[in-house]
Formats: sequence, structure tokens, C-alpha cells
Amino acid sequence: MDLDDMASFCKKTGIIFQNSEIYGGLSGFWDYGPVGAQIKKNMVDLWWEEFVEKRDDVVGIDGSIISSSEVWKASGHVDSFSDPLVDCKKCKKRMRADRLIEEETGEKVEGEGPGKMDSIIEEKNISCPRCGGSLTDVREFNLMFETNLGSVDSEENKAYLRPETAQLIFTNFKQVVDSTRQKLPFGIAQIGRAFRNEVSPRNFVFRTREFGQMEIEYFVHPDNKKKCPFIDEEIRSYELQVLTAEHQRGGEGHERMTIGELVDGGYAETEWLAYWLYQHFNWFVKLGVDPKNLRLREHMEDELAHYAGSCFDIEYNFPFGWDEVYGNADRGDYDLRRHQEASGKKLGVYDQNKEEHVLPRVVSEPSQGIERSLMVFLMDAYTVEDGRKFLELDPRLAPVKCRIFPLMPKDGLDQKAREIYSSLDDRINVEYEESGSIGKRYARADEIGVPYCITVDYDTLEDDTVTIRDRNSTDQIRVVIDELYDVLKDLVFGDKTFEEFLEES
Ligand code: GAP
Repeated sequence: MDLDDMASFCKKTGIIFQNSEIYGGLSGFWDYGPVGAQIKKNMVDLWWEEFVEKRDDVVGIDGSIISSSEVWKASGHVDSFSDPLVDCKKCKKRMRADRLIEEETGEKVEGEGPGKMDSIIEEKNISCPRCGGSLTDVREFNLMFETNLGSVDSEENKAYLRPETAQLIFTNFKQVVDSTRQKLPFGIAQIGRAFRNEVSPRNFVFRTREFGQMEIEYFVHPDNKKKCPFIDEEIRSYELQVLTAEHQRGGEGHERMTIGELVDGGYAETEWLAYWLYQHFNWFVKLGVDPKNLRLREHMEDELAHYAGSCFDIEYNFPFGWDEVYGNADRGDYDLRRHQEASGKKLGVYDQNKEEHVLPRVVSEPSQGIERSLMVFLMDAYTVEDGRKFLELDPRLAPVKCRIFPLMPKDGLDQKAREIYSSLDDRINVEYEESGSIGKRYARADEIGVPYCITVDYDTLEDDTVTIRDRNSTDQIRVVIDELYDVLKDLVFGDKTFEEFLEES
């Protein structure tokens, strides 16, 4: 399925809509319909449950979207968070210079300075792809959205919308430590919106100007930055596809590697980085993404962000090629140090063993885009089989867990189906539907990924049993109404598979 098909599918099924569509649309902004909003909420809740609620060493915060300009000056974003731009002198088309060079020459130049890009443009005689006109010099364009607080436009009233959620973790670091008494090592997580004035938003919701992030900053004592006590043999032997910097320099493809090899081969700078890469890679896999469509990619030295030591992305094999869904950088103590210097407030923590204050080090910054993750789940789940279209979503991600149908909306079948619906409705996300033929109702449920459908038929009125139909196989089992909730709970939360129920029936 290509991206245009995915966008039409998402529009038709109420997953994602173009923002301001009735006014012609606003580039780089997307809205979520009833189905998309629920899938997205389920995904975000599952992330929070896995990485915050289930862990003693991670706490969560929820910071503001707008912060003082001092925050973004100290973090380095005001000075260095930019993309290189060129304009066509003739038709005035504005483009990202690095993308243009990549498209024209195949050479990757992300992270190179304007001077180097100017020379490539001159050397390779690159002109405007639209009209052939000559290009201006490359210049840096800052991606931060600026705003003004209150009624007076002034330097003091200038503020910025956050381009990442992460900085709020650093500016709130001391208050989190003081209020929770967390001891190193520990992480602070945050889920929220971020804003970047992207020059060319593209690829559906892949590159947008407003998007969501799920991020963790993991802090350790600087003396304990290498060894991660959570890595065991099971994690070390976990295999995944990896594209190292070496592979990229040699023009080779990715290879299979274990987490142990990633550490022992010196690719991941620390065990901590490898541990968190494993955690998030496996999160996608546990939620049903085919690991063949996922890989780790090590950043080349010249791509590293202004704060990053070493960095790996998790990439997905999108219709437009492998691209980033998640990044994880070793940020060192860059951010806490910068905020400590700029604010004049001590941001260290007290180390009881060594009886000293230390500035912790961020060994791992798992940073995952919400929209890109959603694209991964949708792309991977979209299935066409024997003329049937369905979203093979993990039931935990599915927008509705079960739809309940009367075979026909008459003869008391509808009343019985409504009774079953009412008995389940406040315990699990179910829906009642009676319009159209039963085949059409199944097809509509399959299309948005509803994993199970219950049908009330004439036998139900005799023996108080119903059928449960499985979305993926279309197989059916017959279940006593009194046991319905327990069976659905087992199926949705993965305690028992449909095949196991089928074998027993
Ligand atoms: N705090 C680190 C950070 O923000 P990043 O690699 O710039 O790192 C992290 O962004 C993730 O945020 C990316 O992997 C991607 O999933 C998502 N993201 C970044 N820019 C985006 C954009 N313009 N549109 C959609 N998602 C974006």
C-alpha cells in the first residue's frame, strides 16, 4: 500500500483527516477522527504503562508546550536548531538544500554546513528541479515556532513552542528529584506535543509541523555510565537487524546482530543505550510489528545532533524507504550543565555513598514520534487476503475490542444483543451494530481492526450461547453468555489465543 492509499484509507475510516480541510487544508497539520483518536490513545497508554507505570525507576511528568526563551537559548535550540535552505532565484521555490542534493546526487549531506553544500551545488551544477533556475546560497532556517506573551511585542515577552518534550524534563529535574526522592539511576518520561516549522512537511503524517513525542531521559551517576544492571542473557541474545555506520560507509545493507554483539562490538557506546534500544524495539514487536520491517541504524558522526554523543534510530521500512520512527542519543550531561550554568541553580543530586553532589549523565534518551509509531502499526497491520481487507492490529491497540450484532434486527434478537452489549459496555470497549447485512457488518469491523465480533442468532434464544468470530482467521467459536466477558478479556489481553479456544471447542 502506498502513502496516498494509506491517506485515503485513513480518511474513509475516520482515522486521520487533513487539518482545516474545508478551507483547503493546512500543510503539516493533521487531525484524528474517532477511530484514529482511540487507536492513538491506546498506543500512548500502552507506552506509558510499559515504561512508566510498570517500572520503579521511571517517573512521568507533563510539562507546558510554551516555555521561556531562556530555556531554549540555554538548550542550544535558538542558535542551532535549523535546516539548510535554498531558494530558486527564478520561480522562488524554497527547498531544503540537503534533500535537494540527496535527490540530485544520491549523496547524504544532512548535518554538513552551508559552505560544503554550496560547493556541491556549484560542482554538480544543481539547479531548481521545478524551473531549472539558478539557486541562492544555502542558509540556515531555525525551526522553532516563536510566539509573544501578552499584548506587547518585545524581546522580554518572546517565548517558544517546544520543538521536543525533552527540555521540560531537564528544567523540572530538580523539582522531580526533590519531590520523589528518586535515586540514580532513574528516568523521567514525558508524552506530549512538539512543534517544528518544517520547511517541507511530507509523507502523510511522517513529517509534520505539530506532532507528538514519547520521551525518556535516563540519568545515571557519571561513574556508572557503562554497565547496565538490567541486561541479562535473554536480552543479550535478542536478535535484530542493525545498520551500523560501517555498513553505511561501505554501501552495505543491514545485518542481523544480537544485543550482546551490539555492545561487545563497540557499536552501542554503553550497555544502557543497548538496553533501551532493546526495550523499544521489542515494544513494537510485542505489539505485533514484523521485526523484518524494523531495524536499528547507527548515526554517522556528521549527523549527530548538537547535544548527542552516540545515537541510534529505530527505522521502519515505509513505502518511501527505511526511515526514522525513534531516536536514542547519549546526551551526556550537556543539558543539565547548560541549564545549571544559565539559571545559576544547582541541578546535581546528592550521592549518599560518595557523600557528594554530582551532575548526572543522560546515557539514553529514547525519543519516539507518536504519529510515526502509529503509521508503523497501521502500515504493518494493513492486510488484504482472499479479497478481504482488514487491519491486523493487536487487540490492545484496536479502537473497539468487540462489536455485537443481532443476526437480524427483529424477533427479539436485537433486544438480546442489546442486553449483552449493556452487560459488557462498562467493562470493555464494545459497540452494538445492526445496520446492513451481517457480511457488511463484519467487513466494516475488519476494516478498522475490531478483533472480535459477537453474533446473536436464533440458537441464542434457545441456549444462551453466541458466536465469537475472529477477525484474522474468520473462524468462530460458540460461547455461553455468562462466560463472554472472561473469554473476551483473555483474548484481548493475550492470556489465551483464539486458536486455543477453538481447539477446546
Ligand atoms: N529529544 C530528541 C528529539 O526530539 P528527534 O530525533 O529530533 O529527537 C524524535 O525527534 C522523534 O520525534 C523522531 O524519531 C520522530 O519520530 C519524531 N519527529 C521528529 N520530527 C518530527 C516531525 N517533523 N514530524 C513528525 N514526527 C517527528
